Amino acid sequence: MPDRSPLLEITGLKTHFFLEQGIVRAVDGVNITVYRGQTVGVVGESGCGKSVMARSILRIEPPPGHIVEGQILFHQAFTRPGPNNGPSPNNSSSMSRSVDLVKLDARGKEIRGIRGAEISMVFQEPMTSLSPVHTIGSQIEEAILLHQDVSEGEARTHAIKMLESVGMPRPHDIIDRYPHQLSGGMRQRAMIAMALSCHPSLLIADEPTTALDVTTQAQILTLMRNLQQELGMAILFITHDLGVIAQMTEYVVVMYLGEVVESATVGEIFSQPKHPYTQALLNSIPQLGRKSLEGRHDRLMAIQGSVPDPYQIPKGCPFHPRCPYNDGDRCIREKPALREISDGHFAQCHYAEELELEGSVDLAQLSV
Ligand SMILES: Nc1ncnc2c1ncn2[C@@H]1O[C@H](COP(=O)(O)OP(=O)(O)O)[C@@H](O)[C@H]1O
Ligand SMILES: [Mg+2]
Repeated sequence: MPDRSPLLEITGLKTHFFLEQGIVRAVDGVNITVYRGQTVGVVGESGCGKSVMARSILRIEPPPGHIVEGQILFHQAFTRPGPNNGPSPNNSSSMSRSVDLVKLDARGKEIRGIRGAEISMVFQEPMTSLSPVHTIGSQIEEAILLHQDVSEGEARTHAIKMLESVGMPRPHDIIDRYPHQLSGGMRQRAMIAMALSCHPSLLIADEPTTALDVTTQAQILTLMRNLQQELGMAILFITHDLGVIAQMTEYVVVMYLGEVVESATVGEIFSQPKHPYTQALLNSIPQLGRKSLEGRHDRLMAIQGSVPDPYQIPKGCPFHPRCPYNDGDRCIREKPALREISDGHFAQCHYAEELELEGSVDLAQLSV
């Protein structure tokens, strides 16, 4: 039975950019809980604050952005080996400690001890974390040596093992190559190997497969799923692609303009969405077999309107200018609160209970 204690609890997180043109409230009151070993998906259109939120967790929020409010509680768990270093529970003691990552100095020793060790991140573009002037091996070894008390030889052996575990062909050879000598898919594998080399309890994956062709994307997703099961880590999986969400995650958080507008289990998000924005995202998924009455494949429905200018977030419900259910009154005047509609299912819409939204997407068809 998986351990369902919370690992990461984000409460009321706000990360704002103070620019000459105005304030960009990139993340504006986000709540997300990730349990140990759980995969939580974060989905939303480009520009809705997913990456700024993810970077805020590791305290690498892009300047001039900074966290202005909120809490990010990370529950660290240590298992202290007993005198015999044996695996028996009697030989070890578990302790846990909670740290508010918001309170840490973003350049301090404590967050550097967590970054890359207990919480790791993989990006859309591997060269965000890989250096072009060092070999793959030296970079993975450095990450291991930074956080673990091992010799250089042991670090190299471990690095080769990590490359093997991410399905890298010829790891003994690849380890001495430079990133530019590898294909995009292999670079992505190398980045994942580096991110997992210290066995993090949380992996943050920010659009890790967006830049890859579909075949490589499928391989990397399968790899991440297998590693997640094997290593028991939790994953915060960020993507704009609901198809990827369906394949990878258990619980889904839908973001719009820096806020969480809906969150629920993956099954409920797909079958009973409670927010019109979620429904619009679902309608924009290309689906096999979704045919119009004339037997032709439907054209994809784009979400009407476009994401508003970040300096001009609409009053009332932030989604009202694009919402087909806008009542022209309350939706424009009053901002809805994020409410629990049913057990574990939250939505930020005045009419969440009344609207009979259709989950027109067959989850089984998306989960390849
Ligand atoms: N360095 C920056 N300076 C100013 N604004 C930024 C910066 N980085 C991101 N933003 C703004 O923050 C908002 C959220 O961006 P981001 O988190 O990258 O979105 P997503 O990852 O969901 O596509 C956007 O409006 C973006 O313009
Ligand atoms: Mg992003």
